[in-house]
Amino acid sequence: MTVFGHIPQEKIDEVRLAADIVQVVGARVNLTQKGRDFWGRCPFHGDKDPSFKVDRQRGTWYCFGCGEGGSVFNFVMRDEGLSFPEAVRELARRFGVEMPKRKLDPAQQKAQEQREKQRHVLETALEYFRTQLQVSAGREALNYLTQKRGLSLEFIKEFQLGWAPDQWEGLGRFLRSNDIGEELAVQAGLLIKRDNRSGCYDRFRGRVMVPIKDATGRLVSFGGRILDQGEPKYMNGPESLLFKKNSTLFNLDKARREMRKKSRALLVEGYFDVITLHAHGLGEAVAPMGTALTSQQVARLKHQADELILVFDGDEAGVKAALRSLPVFQKEDMAPKVILLPMGEDPDSLVRNQGAEALEELLGQARPLVEMAIEQIVTKGDADSFEGRSSVLNQAGKIICGINDPVSAWLYLERLAAMLSIPCDIAAKQLGIPLPSSKKRPRLSPVDNRNCSRGGLHLNDQECLLQMILTQPEAARLFASQEEALEFLDDRNLRQVGASVLSVLARGADPTPDAVAQSLEDQALAPLVSRLAQSGLELDADKARQETVVLLRQWQKRHLKKKLRDMSNQIAQAYQRGDSEEVARLQAMRQRISKSHPTL
Ligand code: UTP
Ligand code: MN
Repeated sequence: MTVFGHIPQEKIDEVRLAADIVQVVGARVNLTQKGRDFWGRCPFHGDKDPSFKVDRQRGTWYCFGCGEGGSVFNFVMRDEGLSFPEAVRELARRFGVEMPKRKLDPAQQKAQEQREKQRHVLETALEYFRTQLQVSAGREALNYLTQKRGLSLEFIKEFQLGWAPDQWEGLGRFLRSNDIGEELAVQAGLLIKRDNRSGCYDRFRGRVMVPIKDATGRLVSFGGRILDQGEPKYMNGPESLLFKKNSTLFNLDKARREMRKKSRALLVEGYFDVITLHAHGLGEAVAPMGTALTSQQVARLKHQADELILVFDGDEAGVKAALRSLPVFQKEDMAPKVILLPMGEDPDSLVRNQGAEALEELLGQARPLVEMAIEQIVTKGDADSFEGRSSVLNQAGKIICGINDPVSAWLYLERLAAMLSIPCDIAAKQLGIPLPSSKKRPRLSPVDNRNCSRGGLHLNDQECLLQMILTQPEAARLFASQEEALEFLDDRNLRQVGASVLSVLARGADPTPDAVAQSLEDQALAPLVSRLAQSGLELDADKARQETVVLLRQWQKRHLKKKLRDMSNQIAQAYQRGDSEEVARLQAMRQRISKSHPTL
């Protein structure tokens, strides 16, 4: 966030030294000291055994389960969803490091004062709306919230819901009695200037008022819903110094913590969807401002949770909205999942009528948005004629070309080609997707290593991958973007090198051989890193990328195949135990995997 401006490096170092990482992490994670290090359960993934390590001396943390790691700043950024400067300032505040006052030029100074004044106006209005809900004139609105929306009084308080009475000058009078000038109230979006005579009138009349906060929980505007019928159903405050619709997500301030805890974010359409879900224990939901989703909004969800699920209505409009959002996510390199609700339901009605479990069950069946989009194109297209198939290939191909992860792009292409009965290499050619040249893999001198590989790829492939990773940051990032990337390396020593690569990347640095060797757990492996790095493999960036794709693709296939085999065993065991529920659950899961990877 640029508002915080530049922080001098010395200050950052000062904060780093002052902020005890064990104390910071310890406030969130139960840590146990073992030798020099502290261990706990990773707060960023469903960690059963403590695989999360804090090294006080180095001031670093690392999770061996999910591969996340970094400095005390990264921890706070990840844990509290802050940007780097925000994290630095937050830790400075906590550990009493004085930060340089921001130097503002007179114009910035003025804007800053203006924002503070507007905030005060909004806070005053909030007080008014909340009181109006409690007095007898607000009885109808309160009934609406408790009866029709099923919300408890406690919850109404938590969300600070209010009521704007159906009067032209209710709020106006209240603001005046609080010495707030009309001009300011107009700028804050609460009053509107009369056209034909002097004075102002209330923007919100006869509406249930929902406060809108920014990502840090500061009030920026309101949304108002009319009671029962009437147009427009919802009305929002206008854009202002404080309210930027394009980058605001309703409830993000409250949902952030929940998203990280559950490792899941939900995106729904409406304010009351969010509110009802929250009231039913699904606090990880947010919604846009009643406008089409923007890239600023989705970028705000990027690092909050591993999984993002879009929840759309099951009608034509819902499907359209889902498809419209795809390019926005692809632009931000995000791969959300999606569910479509049964016809006529929205998240609010579904949860109120059938409970959170009903929605939870649907969420369990969420599938990649890309998959749904491709399927829509294929089913709507004309798969009988040659031209039709070619046109479907081009349309769906656009989506595939928008996938940044080459491994999944390739898997989707294979699947699409199979659906259209077109040879995969021809389809790739048509779309201009480069074909990985798996046959021309460079031969590598085997590294002296006595550990044998089990089940995974040949040791040579694993070494080959690490060699590319150590020489090409691009290949390293590709590797790091794979789920459970470290699983790829089933040789213990190579896996440690891989873990070190991930931790360097997590710090935001390039995994040069030096950096990787330095952050090794076990310094005895440093020579292995230099040997790998000097193996004389000279590939250009493109070639390295292609080779990495080939290797990861092979691995992913093996990994999934093994998973399917394991599941078959589990199903057999559950069957013998007579646990038919478990059998059904596993079968559904297996079916989902094999359905989404028909080439296995
Ligand atoms: P919907 O019309 O789907 O309504 O609008 P809803 O959220 O289910 O509303 P309830 O349950 O009838 O109260 C979805 C979202 O679109 C925006 C709002 O943000 C709303 O939550 N919207 C809708 C507007 O901004 N203006 C409108 O007039 C209608
Ligand atoms: Mn609704």
